[in-house]
Amino acid sequence: MNFTGSHILSIKQFERADIERVFEVADSMAPYALRRKVTRVLEGAILGSMFFEPSTRTRISFGCAFNLLGGEVRETTGFENSALAKGESLHDTARVLSGFSDVICMRHPKSGSVAEFAQASRVPVLNGGDGANEHPSQALLDLYTIRKELASKGRGIDGLRIAMIGDLRYGRTVHSLCKLLLLFNNIQVILVSPPELAMPESIVEQMRAAGHSVSITEDLPQSISHVDIAYSTRIQEERFDSQEEADIYRGRFRLNQAIYTQYCEPNTVIMHPLPRDSRANANELDNDLNQNPNLAIFRQADNGVLIRMALFSLVLDVVDQVHKSARDVNWYNSLRTP
Ligand code: NCD
Repeated sequence: MNFTGSHILSIKQFERADIERVFEVADSMAPYALRRKVTRVLEGAILGSMFFEPSTRTRISFGCAFNLLGGEVRETTGFENSALAKGESLHDTARVLSGFSDVICMRHPKSGSVAEFAQASRVPVLNGGDGANEHPSQALLDLYTIRKELASKGRGIDGLRIAMIGDLRYGRTVHSLCKLLLLFNNIQVILVSPPELAMPESIVEQMRAAGHSVSITEDLPQSISHVDIAYSTRIQEERFDSQEEADIYRGRFRLNQAIYTQYCEPNTVIMHPLPRDSRANANELDNDLNQNPNLAIFRQADNGVLIRMALFSLVLDVVDQVHKSARDVNWYNSLRTP
């Protein structure tokens, strides 16, 4: 794939070599993300950040990634604050915003909307989540996290055993992650959900066609007993017709330290794209896991900055210049201490 000037809309755009490239560049961003060094390589560039659905880490980590490369961020959040609420089309918003920006990241509740926007944009557009469809930068940071967590155990991604748990029907992060795993070999995936919230059949078929072993179950303890990664997800209540309907499924698959200790192999890594729903009736990853060193959820979120820095530097073609303009930082920062 030629990254320069490209939209990043779907994981389907990537080949395995592209993934390796993104990860290699992400690794090289660590000194900047940890504030050991600063670079101004994107000085003068503007990121247009448009989030039409709630977001904390995706929106802020796209923004921080751009800032850490020296660029500026202009953002709009929510329909009510944008001209889309006055009836403007995605086409017109894209024509206008792309005149103000060098690159755009966007989240929108409708599947396919970010691609529609990108067609009218004059600058690259990065998909920050389009409805239940895709969330490519999240899948990249998830796989990057998996790679890092398993590397410390002398393992690679090929041969991975992973349980995906929760709302697999509407969860765009697991949709993109499954598509990403198609590029690897000999993956065992255990899909744990109520039947009504099952992974779309087309994705299951693609994984089986790629030679992966896919099993489908509602049995949480069984599913997590022989995996490297237990990847939990939130019930995507915003995609249900009513709150009551979402409530039927909320809290169905709770993982806590006692269940972990009883069923998981030692060092099973726990992941979640976040936010985890910590309300009492959901509590999908219990707070008593917070001291578990295999709870990777915050390392996972940290990795999002590295991956998004990598995507911006590849798409804006500055990878080779990032380090040329690097300087040491001179303020006290506790992140510098490993
Ligand atoms: C996810 C999303 O928005 O799809 N969050 C995120 O970007 N890390 C998952 C979720 O909201 O449940």
